[in-house]
Amino acid sequence: MKMELTSTIKHLAEAIQPEMVRIRRAIHRNPELSFQEFETSDLIRRELDNFNIEYTDPSTETGVIAHVRGAHAGPTILLRADIDALPIHEQTDSPFISKNSGVMHACGHDMHTASLLGCGYILHQLREHLKGTIRLVFQPAEEKLPGGASSMISGGILDATETERAPSYCIAQHVMPSSPAGTLGFRSGPFMASADEIYIRIEADGGHAAKPEDLSADSILVAAHMIVALQSIVSRTMPPEIPSVLTIGRIEADGATNIIPSKVLLEGTFRCFDENWRQQAWDRILQVIHHTATAYGAAVDVDIKKGYPGVINDPSLTKLAQDTAAHYLGQDQVEMVPIWMAGEDFAYFSEKCDSLLYTLGVGPSDDLHTPTFCPDESALEIGSGFMAFLTNQAIHNLIKS
Ligand code: NI
Repeated sequence: MKMELTSTIKHLAEAIQPEMVRIRRAIHRNPELSFQEFETSDLIRRELDNFNIEYTDPSTETGVIAHVRGAHAGPTILLRADIDALPIHEQTDSPFISKNSGVMHACGHDMHTASLLGCGYILHQLREHLKGTIRLVFQPAEEKLPGGASSMISGGILDATETERAPSYCIAQHVMPSSPAGTLGFRSGPFMASADEIYIRIEADGGHAAKPEDLSADSILVAAHMIVALQSIVSRTMPPEIPSVLTIGRIEADGATNIIPSKVLLEGTFRCFDENWRQQAWDRILQVIHHTATAYGAAVDVDIKKGYPGVINDPSLTKLAQDTAAHYLGQDQVEMVPIWMAGEDFAYFSEKCDSLLYTLGVGPSDDLHTPTFCPDESALEIGSGFMAFLTNQAIHNLIKS
C-alpha cells in the first residue's frame, strides 16, 4: 500500500509539474510587495478554481486559505506557503523576468506558492482515501514586519471550525539555493533565528569640516565608534554556545568632503537563538548606543523593532519527515542542514503548534535576496510530491497513535 501510494503521488507530481512551472512563472513575472499581494491572491484563487479546490477568505486583506477535505473524518494538517516578493531589481536574463521594476521574487516565494498549489492538487486527487482535512495557507507578507503570519493566527487560522479540527501539525518548505535541486534538508529543534531590527539616529551640530572644534560632536565619528562598539556585544558578552549576529547594514550621512552632517542614521539587525539572551542583548545594545553618544557629545534616538521569534522544528515530526523523505527520494537526496540565521514568520506557527520547516534544494543558484537568484524549477515536482506524501504519513501517524 505504501509503495503504491508513493508511486501514485510521484505520478501525480510528474503530471502537474508543467502546470506548476506555468504558475510559478506567472507569479514571478508579476511580483508584489508584502501586504500588496492582490493580483497574486487572485491568481491563486483562479488556480484553485481550476483544480476544484474550495477556499475561504483569510482574516488578512491578501492571502488565501484553501481546504482539501478527505472523504473520511480525521485530523487537520496545515500547509503554508508565503506569497510576497522583495524590493529588489531583478538582473537575470530570464524570459519571464519581473515586469514590476524594483520588485522581484528573490526569496523563492513564487516557488513555494506554485508547489503548494501542486501539493493541493495531488491531495485533492487522493481525497477518496484521505482521512481529515488539509488547510492550504497562502500567507502574505513574510518579508516585512509585523509579517502576515501573526495576523492570520489571531484571525483563527490555527483554530478548529465547525467542520475542521484545529491543526495537529503545521508544515512549510523553503527553497535552498546552496543545495542541489530536489534535495530535502532537515533540522530538528531550533532552526531559524529570531530577527530584530535596530534603527539609530545620531544628532549633533553640523558644520564646516575644517572646524570640528566648533561643533558639539562629529556625528560621523560618533557613528563609527558606535558601530565598532556594537560589534563587541556578540564577540565579548554573548555566551559562545548561542549563535548570534549583529550587523549594521545601512548608514545614511549626507555630508560632503567639506561638510560634517548634523545627522547620521544607522540601521541593522540582531539575530539569535535564545529568548533570554535576546533580552539581555537588547539591554546591552541600548547601553552601548546611549553611552557612546554621551561620551562623544551627540544626541541619539534608538528604536529596536521586535521581529519574528525563532523557528523551532518539532523533533518527532522532523524525524517522521526525514524517514518519509528517505523513503520517497532515497537517503542520498536527504541532508541534515545547519541552523540558519535568517528570520521567518513561520516561527509564529511553530510557537503555537507542532511544526516543521524543511528546505528544498533549488541550486545551483546565486543566493536568496540577490538580483540574480534563479532557482531550478525541476525541484517543484519533488517539493509538491514530498509535501503531499508527508501530509499523508503524518495523518496516518496521528490516527495510529
Ligand atoms: Ni523567504
